[in-house]
Amino acid sequence: MGRIGRNDPCWCGSGKKYKKCHIGEPPPSSGARKTEQAPVDAVVKGRVSPMRDVPQHIVRPSYAVSGTPSGPRAHSCIKTPEEIERMRHAGRTARLVLDTVLAAVRPGITTDSLDVIAHEKAIELGAYPSPLNYHGFPKSLCTSVNEVVCHGIPDDRMLKTGDVINCDVTVFIGGMHGDCSETVFVGKPDPQTIKLVEITYECMMRGIDAVKPGKTLNEIGKAIAKIAHKSGFSIVRDFAGHGIGSQFHQDPQIVHYPDIRQRQKVETGMTFTIEPMINIGTHRCTIWPDDWTAVTTDRKRSAQFEHTILVQASGNELLTGGEGDPWFKRQLAQGW
Ligand code: MF3
Ligand code: CO
Ligand code: CO
Repeated sequence: MGRIGRNDPCWCGSGKKYKKCHIGEPPPSSGARKTEQAPVDAVVKGRVSPMRDVPQHIVRPSYAVSGTPSGPRAHSCIKTPEEIERMRHAGRTARLVLDTVLAAVRPGITTDSLDVIAHEKAIELGAYPSPLNYHGFPKSLCTSVNEVVCHGIPDDRMLKTGDVINCDVTVFIGGMHGDCSETVFVGKPDPQTIKLVEITYECMMRGIDAVKPGKTLNEIGKAIAKIAHKSGFSIVRDFAGHGIGSQFHQDPQIVHYPDIRQRQKVETGMTFTIEPMINIGTHRCTIWPDDWTAVTTDRKRSAQFEHTILVQASGNELLTGGEGDPWFKRQLAQGW
């Protein structure tokens, strides 16, 4: 990998020329080693289309107009039977939207087109696409390509063969949010990317298995670390899973690495997400100047899966579970 040229796009992903942006500064990961630069094929910010409208008949969350969630912050994610029914509906709706988006992933499609699909499918199902205007997020879907860890903003970048993309869907319906994501391949993936995606999925599933009434939340991070570290991959620390319900993000925080402060006990009736982000290289993240897009500091690839789960005495229910295997397994079964 050669040195970054003055007229090359800046490593920070701003889309500006290096000479107009971080001239003289190496990418943060490279420290003193001036020879290590962002890969030439790093994702750069594209053009973001105007915010889309949501028809008046769709019930909106508190932040839809102001951008800021309001109302009392819920400190418990334990649900009543009636709330559980509404959570099931929100989870199923999020899954339907995610499946529709994933079916459209192919080389040549823009992430903006995927956003249109998510936006329209949510509305068709009577739901508000939760990301839209959440703390000002400008789109209805998060699309995180290659080294983008999470919160990628859909834009006019076309997906290309060899890319890997996480699509993260959240919907608000019946007063509740449902949140899920999957990472899929665009065309034929390379072996290291296959390994990353397989391990990340296993991290999520083993993390979910570790959720048992009476055990602490720390069991989740411990289970994930066992899988991730045996493969030499790292676990992102800057973003966590979360309680979910009438609020998009609420207590408790679900960290994906071992942390003895995660002493809270799991109780039946809780609904929260597990959404590990696993990286090939460093666990560290850098945020683009758009204040949302998180990329790995070394620009190596990252993957993520997410489910919203309900804790029950009889076992955990995947509120955002689909039929059978995740999409990437189906892709591999097709000989990709
Ligand atoms: N869906 C993401 C999560 O899993 C949150 C996206 S926040 C947004 O928590 F504003 F970027 F949409
Ligand atoms: Co989430
Ligand atoms: Co999500």
